[in-house]
Amino acid sequence: MDAVEELRDVLPLTAAVNGAGHLAIGGCDAVALAQRFGTPLYVFDEETLRHMCRAFRQEFSARHPDVQVVYACKAYIGRALAALLMEEGLGADVVSGGELAFLASVGFPPEGIYFHGNNKSESELREALAYGVGQVVADNFHELGLLSRLAAEAGRRQRLLLRLSPGVDPHTHAKTATGVLDSKFGFPIATGQAEEAVRRALASPSLELVGFHFHLGSPIFELDPYRQAIAMVLAFAAEMRERHGLELRELSVGGGFAAQYLPQEPPPPVAEYAEAIVLSLREGCRRHGLPLPRLSVEPGRAIVARAGVALYTVGAWKDVPGVRRYVSVDGGMADNIRPALYGARYSALVANRPLDGRRERVTVAGKFCESGDVLLWDAELPPLEPGDVLAVPAAGAYAPAMASNYNAALRPAIVFVRDGQARLVRRRERYDDLLRCELWPPE
Ligand SMILES: Cc1ncc(COP(=O)(O)O)c(C=O)c1O
Repeated sequence: MDAVEELRDVLPLTAAVNGAGHLAIGGCDAVALAQRFGTPLYVFDEETLRHMCRAFRQEFSARHPDVQVVYACKAYIGRALAALLMEEGLGADVVSGGELAFLASVGFPPEGIYFHGNNKSESELREALAYGVGQVVADNFHELGLLSRLAAEAGRRQRLLLRLSPGVDPHTHAKTATGVLDSKFGFPIATGQAEEAVRRALASPSLELVGFHFHLGSPIFELDPYRQAIAMVLAFAAEMRERHGLELRELSVGGGFAAQYLPQEPPPPVAEYAEAIVLSLREGCRRHGLPLPRLSVEPGRAIVARAGVALYTVGAWKDVPGVRRYVSVDGGMADNIRPALYGARYSALVANRPLDGRRERVTVAGKFCESGDVLLWDAELPPLEPGDVLAVPAAGAYAPAMASNYNAALRPAIVFVRDGQARLVRRRERYDDLLRCELWPPE
């Protein structure tokens, strides 16, 4: 089996071996892309992006009458992606004024925007109000008070969701579990703080409390955490109706829908998440006699991970006899920190020789000055040569988004590919970009 077949489930939908015997994505030769745009390069396949947007819309809308699919921009946002999301009819969740600026720069419809975050600043909230952001998701009492005042000053009644912390363990990495009691995010139900938040929100004339949000963490490969959290939040909503007359008009179950990073670790299909979530919602609403609210879901990685492939050029190698062979590429933790940060695992293939069936064990290191800067430990790959183009699939989520200038690295270029056309959507940084904010002599 060739490497493209082996990695079929983690590569973009359009991945193929072309006539030159190279990996092709969106009808574009990956080796030619690497030559034309340089490496490291992030290649996004538009067909896969659109397919995932549609899968979420279709699978949830087929089961529930009022669904809003809200893309979580933190997974990766750029202007081209924002425009594509708009075309696909998705909303967007932002967690900063910066993410909002990306959306605003393409005229993203404000009513589809959800503003999250555990420490939104006064200026960010003002920017959100000025843009007319549809929903603010309040995370804490400080923010409730601030938003209430700023909305009143702006002469607005701001639609609001409260982020609840339902105390459900999603069985994911401790750094990405967010819905547990001991978390910086959200109002815990168990401590009574969630009820106090409801009371304060209802008492504010400048806030329109429309519902609740939770985000359990990510990636979540199991369905049960969603079921448990929905049951808890609906029970809470029923109490809030009884005690405070609150009508639950919207429930946001957050994101965390897993993406496939490795061929042997398939996540549940979108349809299974949709089925579990909608059934739990219906059942909980029936049990408590609540009308069905609007359902919003916030996929991030599940939309962009598989669409994105990172391309690197192979350079130096080092053999530690009896231990391992290191081969270094021209990127690493400055463009993809996930392996170093979370121990995230990826697969790889040689874009210029995907049909080469030889395999040897090799550790693919980045070029940055940390021993932990390793992209793949103990990968089975054809013998690598300097100049080979190494492709890392499923790299679209939280890699370019978390890219840094560590070691004064130039953040990579990003291209969107479709039908044999490559469009540069972000140029590679240059040295003058690194120096642009530096003041010498100091002012
Ligand atoms: C509130 C919220 N929604 C959605 C997401 C998206 O998660 P994922 O990319 O795993 O779908 C996150 C991720 O941190 C989040 O905090």
